Amino acid sequence: MSNYHIKHLEEYYQVYRKSVRNPEAFWEEIAEEHFVWRKRWDNVLSWDFSKPEIKWFEGAQLNITENCLDRHIPTRGNKTAIIFEPNDPKEEAEYITYRQLHERVCKMANVLLEKGIKKGDRVCIYLPMIPELAISVLACARIGAIHSVVFAGFSSNALATRINDSDCKLAITSDGSYRGSKTIDLKGIVDKALEACPGIENVLVAKRINSTIEMVPDRDHWLQPLLDEAYGDNVAEIMDAEDPLFILYTSGSTGRPKGMVHTTAGYMVYTAYTFKNIFQYREHDVYWCTADIGWITGHSYIVYGPLANGATTVMFEGVPSYPDYGRFWEVVQKHKVTQFYTAPTAIRALAKENLEFVEKYDLSSLKVLGSVGEPINEEAWHWYNNNVGKKNSPIVDTWWQTETGGIMISPIPYVTPTTPTYATLPFIGIQPALMDENAEEIKGNQVEGRLCIKFPWPSIARTIWGNHERYRDTYFTAYENMYFTGDGALRDAVGYYRITGRVDDVIIVSGHNLGTAPIEDSINEHPAVAESAIVGFPHDVKGNALYGYVILKETGEGRDKNNLRKEINQQITEQIGPIAKLDKIQFVSGLPKTRSGKIMRRILRKIASNDTSNLGDTSTLLNPEIVQEIMDNAL
Ligand code: WTA
Repeated sequence: MSNYHIKHLEEYYQVYRKSVRNPEAFWEEIAEEHFVWRKRWDNVLSWDFSKPEIKWFEGAQLNITENCLDRHIPTRGNKTAIIFEPNDPKEEAEYITYRQLHERVCKMANVLLEKGIKKGDRVCIYLPMIPELAISVLACARIGAIHSVVFAGFSSNALATRINDSDCKLAITSDGSYRGSKTIDLKGIVDKALEACPGIENVLVAKRINSTIEMVPDRDHWLQPLLDEAYGDNVAEIMDAEDPLFILYTSGSTGRPKGMVHTTAGYMVYTAYTFKNIFQYREHDVYWCTADIGWITGHSYIVYGPLANGATTVMFEGVPSYPDYGRFWEVVQKHKVTQFYTAPTAIRALAKENLEFVEKYDLSSLKVLGSVGEPINEEAWHWYNNNVGKKNSPIVDTWWQTETGGIMISPIPYVTPTTPTYATLPFIGIQPALMDENAEEIKGNQVEGRLCIKFPWPSIARTIWGNHERYRDTYFTAYENMYFTGDGALRDAVGYYRITGRVDDVIIVSGHNLGTAPIEDSINEHPAVAESAIVGFPHDVKGNALYGYVILKETGEGRDKNNLRKEINQQITEQIGPIAKLDKIQFVSGLPKTRSGKIMRRILRKIASNDTSNLGDTSTLLNPEIVQEIMDNAL
């Protein structure tokens, strides 16, 4: 039996028990047998959730890119590492072998060094899904610089906040990006952001759309000529196991985004191990995750996890609807994709379209289907299973978070029997707990509670950049000696987990986490707005959509309401990005508040969801009369 590759349910249970009984021995064996190290660790794990302080493989030295690239060259040098599938199907796909990827990463690493980037410096990457994105990420890791990838759909304001929060010295972007039939002026967004970012010394610009852009002298440099000049080999920086590998921002319940810090060795071990098992990756498979590398899913399961296993990973620049709704399936057929990993929101959008878009393609290469980012509803699950998997490819409903680094609860395909809407069993090494409102653990089955994790796993985030206290407060204070996920979950009669959704002020829209606070802050800055509250309501494609209740100042009262709605959404687009736009905006004269002044979001949520049969006791509100007024005018 190999602990590295689980193939039967009995094996899962055996390995799981082993991983929980003696986590140190278990992870030590995985680390030892499947990775290359410059120096062995002195200690497998030390941890204290009260501080919190978590260290895996302390004392070890390595470079993650030697594990993702160099070590594959003797055996897989000519194997395709990355298939780049462009936005426009008329443009040819690019096949980058492990040897070529190694060389391109080394060149990029040398360019970064030449621009003065050293180990520990932060580099902001704001790129579309083109090979340069994966290459930049790996080049940072090569020289020990900490990458901070910002999803290229964020606005210049959001980009500037993230650049400044972690004091990035250099930014990498492109002259623009393609998105379906549109082009986006990425460089313009960067230029605007950098007006507020004095710390950025250099900007490297990849050419993608051949647009005419302004290059700021001394600051901006076209990337290609620098790469052409650069040497094609590079001696990897030797990193400590706990040296930061990257920062990735996620929304929280206050305005400032949280820069989650992931470190090197544990992250590598866990993403590689989960990738191998949860996608049952075999040597000649072609794996495709449709996420953007700007999110954790792309970091862990487009770049690091697949490459650490010597896999072929597809990078897709486009969108599911361009040139038509068959685009995903055309790509599956074209590259004979074996594992396909996407988000429920994409499945729901495609399920609305004509079935012919799926049926006209040969999808017989598929072996495993994946889902991530939000609960997958039963209808979408069946559509995916019937029409894409033809009932032959198990669906892995993978639950995890930016903070967890890797997949935490998921079936193992061909091993764990699946049930629609259930993420099923904890992955190897993961010890979940459900907690009640008295902070007691709820034991047994057929129970529901708040989802926590009792024991560290190798890829848990170690801190929030520059704010360790916030890290502790957000994740480790609600329940003693536990990591709190912010999600609710139930455990059924056979011990399967089903995630029921967020229990905090984060709303997941089309798979993107959005904190209510930053959106409210943005609305409140509108000169006509006095106060606002945002809640989520069910939406058949996006999962949730945003409903805003807005109190106007006197100056706003007489204004055209539709114009105001447009202005408010425009403001959100500029400050956060188009993903945070509100679907509905209701102007109200007040918000229901408790006597201590807290907005009663529970009531607002019910009104937005058109579910007002049981609003609960409203008599204790400071202003109970407002509830009826809001209900009468609900949209
Ligand atoms: C939600 C994405 C139900 C959950 C990897 C979590 C899910 C948040 C699932 C993290 C799933 C993710 N079923 N809910 N399979 N996967 N979520 O940080 O609420 O972008 O806390 O990481 O997405 O989102 P994040």
